[in-house]
Amino acid sequence: MSQLFNNQHVIITGGSSGIGKATALLLASEGAHISIIARNLAKLSAAKAEIEQARAATTQRVSTYSADVSVNAEVQRAVAAAIAENGAPDILITSAGMVQPGLFQDQAVELYEQTMQLNYLGTVYTIKAALSSMLACKRGHIVMIASGAGVLGIYGYTSYCPTKFALRGLAQALRCEVKPSGVRVSIVYPSDVDTPQLAEENKTKPEETKRISGTAAPQSPAVVAKAIVDGIRRNQFAISSNMEMHLLKRLSSLVEPIMNGYMDSIIAGVAKDRAAGKI
Ligand SMILES: NC(=O)c1ccc[n+]([C@@H]2O[C@H](COP(=O)([O-])OP(=O)(O)OC[C@H]3O[C@@H](n4cnc5c(N)ncnc54)[C@H](OP(=O)(O)O)[C@@H]3O)[C@@H](O)[C@H]2O)c1
Repeated sequence: MSQLFNNQHVIITGGSSGIGKATALLLASEGAHISIIARNLAKLSAAKAEIEQARAATTQRVSTYSADVSVNAEVQRAVAAAIAENGAPDILITSAGMVQPGLFQDQAVELYEQTMQLNYLGTVYTIKAALSSMLACKRGHIVMIASGAGVLGIYGYTSYCPTKFALRGLAQALRCEVKPSGVRVSIVYPSDVDTPQLAEENKTKPEETKRISGTAAPQSPAVVAKAIVDGIRRNQFAISSNMEMHLLKRLSSLVEPIMNGYMDSIIAGVAKDRAAGKI
């Protein structure tokens, strides 16, 4: 076990499920105190029990806070309570997020507002609530969970991609502002991950989006958590958990025209199959 995370305080929004919970489990196994923030009390308490099981020592604290991250006052209250209990976060992970795939012309404007409010502003609120305590300690690591959809615009994700693109700008700008004060910033670009969110979005995902995602099996949350924790250890700014995402984030502006052509051909293929009554 690495000593790096021993007795560190980790705050994770969305820590009761999926990528957030898997990262909480891994960091608990490496000695950290864990505070998770999400809305549903039953899910929070089930996750707490799991994280307690994963701890390296029973002296590690696992705390839960119920808050809607898209509401600033609720986030401020939850983060302040976590800091009062366990001190300034050594690691702050913003994983709470949502996605509802569909076509721009079919989706209500309220969905665009709601998705931006949670994925982008929820991240801003969380960092705002914790940053002054981190700056005062002159240390800490902020990790924002974005998506491959934060690197490339993807068919069916018009309400989602812009929220993750916004995180990318936030992470880049914030990184250089806080670096002189000893606070680090990372951004994570997962591809499909086998979580309740993916299961939910698959119910309404357009056929075109499914085909663009390809047939590769989604990654497990544990694999993504390991990439995140390794990235924190190595102080990597941009973290990806597989080669496709690594190449996409490195070469995004170069591959954009190629990906556009690739997506156009898939969309044309779906139209052809639909016209032929195959789907
Ligand atoms: N799964 C993927 O394929 C994938 C790929 C790329 C990026 N991502 C990103 O990874 C992050 C985590 O996704 P996941 O797949 O791990 O999802 P998940 O398993 O559904 O977990 C989402 C977590 O966020 C919490 N949450 C949702 N809305 C919230 C709100 N308004 N306020 C506070 N907490 C809230 C949920 O708990 P409550 O519902 O109880 O609040 C839960 O703990 C998201 O930002 C997502 O966009 C996921």
